[in-house]
Amino acid sequence: MQIGESTTVVIFGASGDLTSRKLIPALYSLYRKNRLPGNFRIVGYSRSSLTDEEFRDRVQAVENGRDCEPSHAGQWTEFSQMIHYHSGSFTDEGGFKAFDERLKGYEKGNTNRLYYLATPPQLFTSIVGNLGRTGMVREDGSWRRVVIEKPFGRDLQSAHELNHTLHHDLDEGQIYRIDHYLGKETVQNVMVFRFANAIFEPIWNRNYIDNVQITVAEQLDVGHRAGYFDQSGVLRDMFQNHMIQMLALVAMEPPSSFEADAIRNEKVKLFSAIRPISDEMVSQETVRAQYEGYRKAEGIPADSETATYAALRLHIDNWRWKGVPFYLRSGKALQKKTSEIIIQFREPPHVMFPLPQGYTITSNMLALRVQPDEGIHLRFEAKVPDTAADMRSVNMDFRYADSFGGCSIPEAYERLLYDALNGDASLFTRSDGIEKEWQFIDPIIRGWESKHAPKLATYKRGTWGPKEADKFLARDGRQWLTV
Ligand code: BG6
Repeated sequence: MQIGESTTVVIFGASGDLTSRKLIPALYSLYRKNRLPGNFRIVGYSRSSLTDEEFRDRVQAVENGRDCEPSHAGQWTEFSQMIHYHSGSFTDEGGFKAFDERLKGYEKGNTNRLYYLATPPQLFTSIVGNLGRTGMVREDGSWRRVVIEKPFGRDLQSAHELNHTLHHDLDEGQIYRIDHYLGKETVQNVMVFRFANAIFEPIWNRNYIDNVQITVAEQLDVGHRAGYFDQSGVLRDMFQNHMIQMLALVAMEPPSSFEADAIRNEKVKLFSAIRPISDEMVSQETVRAQYEGYRKAEGIPADSETATYAALRLHIDNWRWKGVPFYLRSGKALQKKTSEIIIQFREPPHVMFPLPQGYTITSNMLALRVQPDEGIHLRFEAKVPDTAADMRSVNMDFRYADSFGGCSIPEAYERLLYDALNGDASLFTRSDGIEKEWQFIDPIIRGWESKHAPKLATYKRGTWGPKEADKFLARDGRQWLTV
């Protein structure tokens, strides 16, 4: 892959958590894999006053890398020399001009720039506005790209307005709206699994699939992000982006090519086919819950109604999926961290075996394990040896660690930064896509705030969520499945 000769990555909001936890480690890993251009630098930008050295120290925790990686002392010292820091305001245009001059001083000539907005969302428009007014996003022999972190708006209207404002200074092709779930290998593998194998796609439809379940469970509670989370809630935090993107990859039609727009067109078509959940339907189609003790956490109002858990039942109105329910659930403070997509197939139409009293055949299940223990498992019935026709469910397993080694899966941010540097927008959300996502979530949020809202259930920490979520599936004669 070709990356232009001289490139600068500017991180706005560089003193924040994301920079030291994700962005610098991702860039460092790319450096170690020799995937960064020779003439490269990272410039952190924040309000805090720090010297280059102090900033380097702050992000140096990455030096040890992951346990399974070979030791690389020395490389960090070399890499850290590419890291600089500039302190300034996000709203002062004059400050941006001075910053631009400083960047030019490092760059000495035609240089590509990737601006990463890792700031609180209220700053996005003033940063892009200043970049626009100072000519810092003008493409003049080299490219200028802007990566925008989530949340992208807090409803359809604000997302639409944000798109509109960004388009004043940037072409759509310069905007990279990030959803880090799309950078996960296992999420990308959904497309390879479906479209690089001939045996799954013919059965990937209403004739063979009974239901689809997508779970993103987190063990952590809201912790120090209470202020942000209480304003967002689980629907905005997890469903509007990660959950719905995974749904799109599972359910969309095969794109005609691997081009960014071919993939994104199919996703938008899929989003358009999701049946909207109206106010009146919201208590039928959703469960909302909060873990016990949430209201006692620092920064959370004692009467907060914010949901930390949600389960939804969705329908996709097209030929492929008519009548197949998609159950999505995600929550904080659950039993363990696990993300998986489960495809439950229909039962065989006729059972010829003399089954023991009370035994029913378990239908086939395909589990795409997103994390941890990444892999794919297919459950099917097998004959128990030395019996006439007794059966038991067994698994056929593929584990990334076994097939590709324990360190084969890079961090999602590494892939996304690499793609943004290479101008590949396939794993980023286009303006119409993000608005479609909100178009789907908005009515549910409104329904939850209306008189039709389902009662806010509660659940104990360390469980799999509220019992209401189990009843929700039991009502359809189903249960939540897990590998
Ligand atoms: C983020 C959410 O986008 O994703 C967090 O804001 C959540 O609340 C996180 O914890 C989950 O990401 P991962 O990669 O740890 O599953």
